[in-house]
Amino acid sequence: MYDFKPAAPLASDELYRELLGAADALTAGEPDAVANMANVAALLSEFLPDLNWAGFYRVAPAKTGGVDELVLGPFAGRPACIRIPFGIGVCGAAAQSRATQLVADVHAFPGHIACDAASASELVVPVLRNGAVIAVIDLDSPSPARFTAADAAGIEALAGLLADRI
Ligand code: SME
Repeated sequence: MYDFKPAAPLASDELYRELLGAADALTAGEPDAVANMANVAALLSEFLPDLNWAGFYRVAPAKTGGVDELVLGPFAGRPACIRIPFGIGVCGAAAQSRATQLVADVHAFPGHIACDAASASELVVPVLRNGAVIAVIDLDSPSPARFTAADAAGIEALAGLLADRI
């Protein structure tokens, strides 16, 4: 059994240092992308308080072929929408712009996709490999304005670590 969860609430810097260390330990030397995303989704959900969804959308071809879109990957939370076109919703905005989306109030975000009515704020970070987006990491919270710049920086560091492991 792996027990990576911090024993007590940690300050943000320390929390992300531990989270990255655990993610590194679990994914180092493992080439299977699904296994790595699954373990990291579980870590996110264990480490970060006040989330109702944590996981991945991967860039993959549309069902009809051709254009790429975001396709649901490993996650912790309620069942979610499976396919999201680039440019749609918070995840699609992150994929299209290749930039982190820190959204304090999802209901004010144009085109927000409500997978879980409980979600109030959201953080989506693109995973870039050689400058191209290969996935996004999506965190949802039932609390408004749950995510800070420190969360964005921590998840961006995680995305950097995972770029060649997923
Ligand atoms: N709310 C997201 C969709 C994904 S779910 O939150 C899991 C969005 O607007 O992109």
